[in-house]
Amino acid sequence: MCGIFGCVLKDGKVAPLIHGGLKRLEYRGYDSVGFATIDSGVLHVRKDSGKIDDVVDRLQMTEMPGSIGVGHTRWATHGAPMMVNAHPHTDCEGRVAVVHNGVIENFLELKEELINKGHNFASRTDTEVIAHLIEEEMRGDIELGEAVLKSLRHLEGSYAVAVISPSDPGRVYCARNESPLVVGVSEQGTFCASDVPAMLPYTNRVVYLRNGEFATLGREGFEIKRIQDGSVVEREIKEVTWTLEMAEKQGYSHFMLKEIYEQPMTLRNALRLQRQYLDLLTAFLDRGKELFLIAAGTSHYACVAASYMFSKLARLTTYPVVSSEFVEQYGSSVGIDSVVLSVSQSGETYDTLKAIDHARMRAATVLGVTNTVGSTLTRVSRAYIVQQSGPEIGVAATKTFTAQLMVLSQLALRLARMRGKISQDEVDDLEEKMQMIPDFVDKVLGMHGEGIAKLVQKYSGERLFVYLGRGISAATALEGRLKLLELTYVPSLAYPAGESKHGPISVVEEGVPVVFICPRGETRKDIVGSIMEMKARGARIVSVCEEGDVDIIGLSDDVVEMPAGIPEMLSPIPYIVPLQLFAYHLAVQKGLDPDMPRNLAKSVTVP
Ligand code: AGP
Repeated sequence: MCGIFGCVLKDGKVAPLIHGGLKRLEYRGYDSVGFATIDSGVLHVRKDSGKIDDVVDRLQMTEMPGSIGVGHTRWATHGAPMMVNAHPHTDCEGRVAVVHNGVIENFLELKEELINKGHNFASRTDTEVIAHLIEEEMRGDIELGEAVLKSLRHLEGSYAVAVISPSDPGRVYCARNESPLVVGVSEQGTFCASDVPAMLPYTNRVVYLRNGEFATLGREGFEIKRIQDGSVVEREIKEVTWTLEMAEKQGYSHFMLKEIYEQPMTLRNALRLQRQYLDLLTAFLDRGKELFLIAAGTSHYACVAASYMFSKLARLTTYPVVSSEFVEQYGSSVGIDSVVLSVSQSGETYDTLKAIDHARMRAATVLGVTNTVGSTLTRVSRAYIVQQSGPEIGVAATKTFTAQLMVLSQLALRLARMRGKISQDEVDDLEEKMQMIPDFVDKVLGMHGEGIAKLVQKYSGERLFVYLGRGISAATALEGRLKLLELTYVPSLAYPAGESKHGPISVVEEGVPVVFICPRGETRKDIVGSIMEMKARGARIVSVCEEGDVDIIGLSDDVVEMPAGIPEMLSPIPYIVPLQLFAYHLAVQKGLDPDMPRNLAKSVTVP
């Protein structure tokens, strides 16, 4: 996720501070870096793709003159990671410099309007529209601050922005809507940044901007206004007591926990994808006689869940296939009528890319869903969608799993609507509920954030866990088990509950914990039978079920109650959250590092 640092100093050169600030945002992940400073009425911009220290050294960026400036580390969302797409972006005259974190949803419309008004664009980013919008507003002969405020009112989507211009050489203007931005003050000057660590060596006195707020930073302090009506906001300055390491994790003890808690935000991002990409992928999916969903690990389990959606909602025959098995299993049958949708957080997983290569050779239509712009997957896919989750530092995938599912759900529902195989009412209802999923996840985190840690204490000595679910919940069970395996190294089983009697039930004896995933829906009555089967063998039943589901609650030793009203088809997204927390807390209790499990790498780029 991009990092922003802005600063107005009372005295001295700002560039070395920008360098330090961006270095402390490095943990957010990035592919490019850039600074803009103002000195003697001139705007200086230097930027390129690459590592911060390399780019800063090569372009001698710490030598840039001026005591006011902004810096940016870019994590590509629109446009490949290359110099021209790196921030800061400027207007036609090179008088306004903008850095941005987030996604401007209506940038294509805005860009077209601006081009019609004679603006020339240099990059493929959504950000550049902001610089041109400000330029356009300034043609009305208003001051920079007013022009920024007016421009922000045109934007739809998420943003944290910082703007400077020699036409107002003593100020940084910044604002936020759903992307984080913090303002800081010290004797030295005034700062803004995506996150507290960036400014921690200079100040611990901060104000967190809220959605829809705009701040003017000057040498003596700052002023906050509401973007909508320009009214002034009074906000108390807070003193942060975190260490630098704590601040990078925003006070969470591990990146994984931070990422679990980021899910309401990353799910909202995944709901804001550009409509034209969704339409394009849906059109390709509709042409297929069959759909192969190719992925590895957690991404594979997202595909297992999605296969129920595509088959049941859109009536498209769908096969979720582990990447490393694809060529062996379907290599001879995949062909021109097949659509292959591969899902990979990194977009670089060797097995997945190998499977795609084969599918392309056989003339299949290859599509992609990834979290990484510019990854190999984006280059080899006919069309792709970037899920916009921001970098995931924890080796165990959490927020990227739920966001993958959010993207896949949208595709399945669009295809269902297009094909008309289920009623429009049903599609409407599911789409409405889909918009509510980030709030459901928020609620789940509020309900169980603490409780799961207590539950873990009861089960910390167990040497085997079994995870079971029916229908789409089998995918939730598989992913819940994978989290436990990766993080705690406790052997555990997971499979569709109906399979248990065909063999695996033999491992169940007195006291073995069996975790049942049982949302309300079509599979609910069958799962009761499966619970009885396990209870009869002395298993301890832990159920993740809807609140007030008295039958399931009555059969269970422990229950994780979930908010009512989540449709079964979308349930893997909120229902995985308590299982992520369970694995996380068990690992911590065992003294293991959940961010770096043994033997695992974030991205597996080898055969
Ligand atoms: C998940 O927690 C693991 N880190 C792993 O299974 C991962 O999902 C798998 O390697 C696939 O990675 P990808 O999504 O980047 O292709």
